Amino acid sequence: MPAAKKTAMHPDLAEVLLTEAQIKARVRAVAQELKAVYGEGEFTIISLINGAVMFTADLMREIDNPIRLDCIRVSSYGSKTKSIGSPQVIYSLTLDIKDRHVLVIDDILDTGKTLSLVSKLVRDLKPASLRTCVLLDKKERREVKIEADFVGFDIPNKFVVGYGLDFAERYRNLPCIGVLKPERQNAASWSAS
Ligand code: IMP
Ligand code: MG
Repeated sequence: MPAAKKTAMHPDLAEVLLTEAQIKARVRAVAQELKAVYGEGEFTIISLINGAVMFTADLMREIDNPIRLDCIRVSSYGSKTKSIGSPQVIYSLTLDIKDRHVLVIDDILDTGKTLSLVSKLVRDLKPASLRTCVLLDKKERREVKIEADFVGFDIPNKFVVGYGLDFAERYRNLPCIGVLKPERQNAASWSAS
């Protein structure tokens, strides 16, 4: 018999900010917002891996337009909860996006450095249009002047994990989004097991 899905809050979370059901409903609504803008037309999604994988996969399945998908990897926080220095592109695009309608998707807009770096890279490749979509927006933390065209949820300035978002590569598989307990925000507390 398949194991029952756990419904209790993960013990490393201090609180659940967004439940699985809330995320699902909002992803559907964002898909409608995209539809209102793109109509029936084709567009190319550029997903920032790894964080945006869950959001991208769920959002794409709510959209029936013809879609092309490419991924880009930008250096991340490592095992810290605050971004340091400038992000770097580690793995870049393979699809040609010249004269294409492009939608860049990320999990969270924080300082804005990552999204502005990727937006510049995309813009330099001369797409027909460029729009951005993030699941979460931590407006309070912005350092670079940038706003996303589509936002799932505005959230307070707390370090969150789950639904693709990680701390030290853990917790991406949680179906909800929650705030990590302060005592777990320390990579040294992890064993290699
Ligand atoms: P930014 O460049 O500061 O806007 O950071 C964006 C990236 O930082 C996102 O793509 C996430 O990978 C990561 N990030 C920012 N805030 C959080 C968080 O609360 N939890 C997990 N990752 C985060
Ligand atoms: Mg990320």
